[in-house]
Amino acid sequence: MSEASNYKEALQHPIFNTIAKASANLKLNSYVIGGFVRDYILQRGTPKDIDIVTVGSGIALAKEVSKLLPNHPKVQVFKTYGTAMLKTEGIEVEFVGARKESYAAHSRNPVVENGTLEDDQNRRDFSINALALNLAPENPGELLDPFKGLEDLKAKIIRTPLDPDITYSDDPLRMMRAIRFATQLNFRIEETSLNAITKNKDRIKIITKERIVDELHKILLSDKPSVGFKLLEKTGLLAYMLPELIALKGIDEIEGQRHKDNFYHTLEVVDNISENTDDLWLRWAALLHDIGKAPTKKFSKKVGWTFHGHEFVGSKMVFKLFKRLKMPLNDKMKFVQKMVLMSSRPIVISTDVTDSAVRRLVFDAGDYIEELMTLCEADITTKNPKKFKKYHHNFKIVRQKMVEVEERDHIRNFQPPVTGEEIMETFNIKPSREIGIIKEAIKEAILEGDIPNEHNAAYEFMLQKGKELGLSPQRPQRGN
Ligand code: CTP
Repeated sequence: MSEASNYKEALQHPIFNTIAKASANLKLNSYVIGGFVRDYILQRGTPKDIDIVTVGSGIALAKEVSKLLPNHPKVQVFKTYGTAMLKTEGIEVEFVGARKESYAAHSRNPVVENGTLEDDQNRRDFSINALALNLAPENPGELLDPFKGLEDLKAKIIRTPLDPDITYSDDPLRMMRAIRFATQLNFRIEETSLNAITKNKDRIKIITKERIVDELHKILLSDKPSVGFKLLEKTGLLAYMLPELIALKGIDEIEGQRHKDNFYHTLEVVDNISENTDDLWLRWAALLHDIGKAPTKKFSKKVGWTFHGHEFVGSKMVFKLFKRLKMPLNDKMKFVQKMVLMSSRPIVISTDVTDSAVRRLVFDAGDYIEELMTLCEADITTKNPKKFKKYHHNFKIVRQKMVEVEERDHIRNFQPPVTGEEIMETFNIKPSREIGIIKEAIKEAILEGDIPNEHNAAYEFMLQKGKELGLSPQRPQRGN
């Protein structure tokens, strides 16, 4: 990280030159602020958007910038917020006039007054997001940092410019942003800030589900999502969004028998899987794979703690949870449900890996067998090194068997080797229950390994099954 208080080299994108010219035309002082500056100093890769603040009208500046650009990109104006946006050369640029703000208690929408650059920096969420670079030709790249954001960047601290109680109460989404940045950047939330989040947690209710989910996605897509979920739990926010996870907390003991704390186990699984996949929905599956354990938990004197049917119950809970959080009830949700439903299958067969169990696993998981195995491997969180090794070894055997069985039997994208039409033609029958019975029997015989997954064998099997059902072939049998 550079020590400089000038970051001229951050302003290489040609748009900055245009904004400087447009600002000079309108006699405005303009600055680049927020995530662009923060991420530049942290060297976090190419930015997707640029935030510009000007001491004057952001909308007028955006229009002037568009005029100066050769293709005059469309300026989108958000009148209520006094902001404007345009897209150029693959980057979104947002313009806002510097302002002073105060918020009404019931809403995130601020009452706005014009202000100085410092007023504007003051109203921002965190010191690390309040860093601004001057765009003026006299001093391009000059760092304006009244709240010691640079120091906080170096010390890896999330701190609010104002009293955190005001910052979070003004805009409760910032509580989630604090936790999200702490997770993404591996920063610490400063103590008074963390206390203020706990104090203001109820105000999260005024934030829309969509925005909450957006932040949850970002936490889940971080390198170590457990950091964020532990903070959400510690501050009391998690209970508002994912009470199903809170229900997994704690260890019960009856007659000296204890079960594991499924909340912390779940977080370990999420961290494990994040080392192997960036698939957001597979990470969701890891987060939710055990939620059925809370409602199904029972103690029996004979076998101790049980969670019978938790996978089925959990997969049903996924639907309710997605619906409550206004998440899409589409294929992504069905995928998460499928993963939760099947989350114990590989471990169950791994102790006694038969061909038929592997065929059934591959058949049921279909296109998602790889994802399911990734989930189950991440689910191994035992601290006993011998067991850890053994479980991973067993999964290796399951994987090897999967390859062998697949090469031989092609179960993965199973297509019935004898179709319903062929059955109807052969026995000269109309659509009826018998066709379903025969098709199911053929599939079962293949999965059990009684017949290979080939047309000839399946055809013979069909004739035999038809006979048992009192059907006889109506035409000379095909030469097989
Ligand atoms: N901001 C704020 N309070 C919010 C949202 C945003 O003060 N609730 C300010 C911050 O200064 C932030 C800037 O607006 O840096 C831009 O917001 P946004 O684009 O949402 O976030 P970034 O900081 O750019 O980071 P990211 O893109 O990772 O969300």
